Amino acid sequence: MSKRILPLDSADFEQVKEIIIKEWGSDYVIVHGDIIHPAELPGYKVMQDEKLVGLVTCMIKGQECEIVTLNSFQKGEGVGDALMKKVESYALSHQCSTCMLVTTNDNLNALGFYQRRGFYISEVRPGAVDEARKVKMSIPKIAENGIPIRDEITLVKQIG
Ligand SMILES: CC(C)(COP(=O)(O)OP(=O)(O)OC[C@H]1O[C@@H](n2cnc3c(N)ncnc32)[C@H](O)[C@@H]1OP(=O)(O)O)[C@@H](O)C(=O)NCCC(=O)NCCS
Repeated sequence: MSKRILPLDSADFEQVKEIIIKEWGSDYVIVHGDIIHPAELPGYKVMQDEKLVGLVTCMIKGQECEIVTLNSFQKGEGVGDALMKKVESYALSHQCSTCMLVTTNDNLNALGFYQRRGFYISEVRPGAVDEARKVKMSIPKIAENGIPIRDEITLVKQIG
């Protein structure tokens, strides 16, 4: 069965919140020092039959669209790519000129994924995750790939 991309609506709130808790350790994330509740944001889901296989949340600030969370549950099949394309068109339709996101130094997969899609590194904040961990103690110290999680890396893409 083919996959469908749908915008999130209020009926998705509980499921999105559950996914955020499972994937990001709580119902909030800390990005550039801000506490953000992704389930309250606009976004898109990828559905295959009745199963949610991908989720992106984002927020618009002026002419910038920030991708807050991106998760694929069917990796390597184009789910992440389709969600990124959808967010870019959402951003364009809201008169944004850039998309940006923050990831962490350990996330080599995401760093590659975004840079292959036109994003470039615009800022590195050494120790920013160590600071966030003082508030959100569930942030692991070491990633599954063995890299200590310490720094925030901002990536930006010009879209308009
Ligand atoms: C980063 C992430 C969202 C990518 O999602 P994904 O669904 O695997 O992404 P895609 O399938 O679109 O692309 C990944 C690779 O799969 C391959 N691929 C994509 N579609 C494919 C297809 N139809 N057939 C074969 N291979 C395919 C490509 O090689 C692609 O690599 P590329 O960057 O060279 O194009 C996913 O790894 C993830 O959820 N990671 C954990 C959470 C995370 O780190 N989020 C981002 C941090 S904010």
